[in-house]
Amino acid sequence: MCETCAKSDLTRLDAVFKEFEGDEHALISILQKAQEIYGYLPTDVIYAVAEHVGVSPAKVMGVATFYTQFRLQPVGRNLIMLCKGTACHVNGADAIAKALQDELGIGDGETTPDGLFSLKEVACLGCCSLSPVMMVNETAYGSLTPDKAREIVRRIKAEGAAS
Ligand code: FES
Repeated sequence: MCETCAKSDLTRLDAVFKEFEGDEHALISILQKAQEIYGYLPTDVIYAVAEHVGVSPAKVMGVATFYTQFRLQPVGRNLIMLCKGTACHVNGADAIAKALQDELGIGDGETTPDGLFSLKEVACLGCCSLSPVMMVNETAYGSLTPDKAREIVRRIKAEGAAS
């Protein structure tokens, strides 16, 4: 993001457009690369991609909202993915969700004002034997209790404050 005008630096898309030049089915790949660059898909990036690909911004937005891999809002430095799959649900994921929401002061799909945490409820993370489970960025935390989940968040907050 440009500091002075609060717009995305769209020149960063040039290499992506070049990579997929002439490939008219590359919309999803372009959006994936754009998200890697910006961390999410800002509105001006959606418009730039639409113009480049030759489709309407509404069509690009439709694709971006259809696939859960795409984010339309910036995510915090720590993305908490709380599993709400069947095994985790049965083993108390709702209580973990409540504890996290209380601790962070945000709901599902939201980011804390300081940009430190985003919370997202997801389907099975593939480690059901550890349920209930959450992942913080690349790290999985299993056999959670509400207190354990709070403690993990507090520890990351303390580490964030120290760094
Ligand atoms: S249901 Fe949560 S990891 Fe599978």
